[in-house]
Amino acid sequence: MKRRADAILKRAQAEYLEQLTPPRDPLLTRIEEFAAKHGHPIADPEVAQLERVLVRATSPRHILEVGTNIGYSVVAMGRECGRETVLETIELNPDTLSVAKSFVADASDPETDALRKFNRRITTDPRLTTIILPLGDGTGISIVH
Ligand SMILES: C[S@@+](CC[C@H](N)C(=O)[O-])C[C@H]1O[C@@H](n2cnc3c(N)ncnc32)[C@H](O)[C@@H]1O
Repeated sequence: MKRRADAILKRAQAEYLEQLTPPRDPLLTRIEEFAAKHGHPIADPEVAQLERVLVRATSPRHILEVGTNIGYSVVAMGRECGRETVLETIELNPDTLSVAKSFVADASDPETDALRKFNRRITTDPRLTTIILPLGDGTGISIVH
């Protein structure tokens, strides 16, 4: 959530919108924590959500992001892209880029990626009510409406 006062968006409204933003997975949470600790200007969670919506809505063949920072949007958008999409990103600062590479590497295990996509699907599909329990390495139960 934005920390500074805003002439349009009041704090109570910002807090309300914040709690409508889907929960982040552990990697995005780690990136947010790293950014907060080291003062990196990453995208807001709602911006990442807009990026997800745009990727899903337009199924782009090519995305070019100017300003990777530590890879928050790369991870968020990358998870929505199919194999046919090329996601390119450029970053001016080599130290920042190396942090981004390390976070992106953590996101790019194909099996984990597929599982995360599946979990996101079953937890956001309005036709399902789903709970993912911390049993074993995670156990999902969905009820079809
Ligand atoms: C606001 S941050 C980007 C946030 C990132 N897109 C995200 O989703 O979290 C801006 C980044 O752009 C980088 N930058 C600024 N000018 C640039 C340029 N000409 N080419 C590439 N990167 C640039 C900065 O170093 C900084 O890391």
